[in-house]
Amino acid sequence: MTVRQEKIRDHYDSVADTYDHHYDHPRGRNYHTHISNYLIKALPEKGDLLDIGCGTGLFVEKYLRHGGTAVGLDISRKMTARARHRCAGCEFAEGNGETLPFRNNSFDAVSSLLVFSYVRDPETMLSESYRVLRPGGAIAICTLGKKLLTRGIPALYQISEKMNVRHVVMKDFGEHYYNEDEMNDLFNQAGFSDIAVKWCSFAHIDMIDPLYNLASKIEPFVEKRVPQLAYNIFVSAKKPRE
Ligand SMILES: C[S@@+](CC[C@H](N)C(=O)[O-])C[C@H]1O[C@@H](n2cnc3c(N)ncnc32)[C@H](O)[C@@H]1O
Repeated sequence: MTVRQEKIRDHYDSVADTYDHHYDHPRGRNYHTHISNYLIKALPEKGDLLDIGCGTGLFVEKYLRHGGTAVGLDISRKMTARARHRCAGCEFAEGNGETLPFRNNSFDAVSSLLVFSYVRDPETMLSESYRVLRPGGAIAICTLGKKLLTRGIPALYQISEKMNVRHVVMKDFGEHYYNEDEMNDLFNQAGFSDIAVKWCSFAHIDMIDPLYNLASKIEPFVEKRVPQLAYNIFVSAKKPRE
């Protein structure tokens, strides 16, 4: 494990007990539901899912509610412990999304929500995802993308780390953001077909009140008509049938 991965793991171990508070209010729930709905729509119903960077199991729980079965993987032991608590009976493994401890052709669906920007070697994570998916299976990810509004984020995270701001995501992890072309190339190189890239999210849980209310009202319009103002990138794709 690299120094950066250790830093990410240690950070998420340290916020595991408070991570859910971040999403445990109407705004947080709206934000997480909004982005996870994109993934749910792109993945097969009632399949076997692998969720990479499952955190406390928020997405696994949602997929189970839609009738599927799921396995979660996360680099942080404490986040997976929380996920086990949330989804008793489900399997959660501790590990790096770049080396998946699963057999070839084991899943119908692979998901990853708010994780891809942390991954050191995205090519390997995608080729591993391809390997564990069954032919015809689907992958869907959503992460911060390379856009106007995210340009200042690395500097903001560096400052907040120096100022010791206690926040579940605001730390300098050397995150990497991708645009549409880069995502298309990455998924294409890994062998995926039916690649679709969309921009989503305009309202953010950390916005001040009047701004948040306005942003959530115009979010559907922004996503459809002014995607250059959206900050999350959503990608879905399929492993071709042989
Ligand atoms: C912002 S949280 C998102 C958690 C969850 N997907 C959700 O939607 O709430 C990022 C998660 O990614 C995990 N993570 C970061 N890098 C990872 C990697 N290389 N492999 C597996 N998990 C990773 C972290 O431990 C953390 O739980």
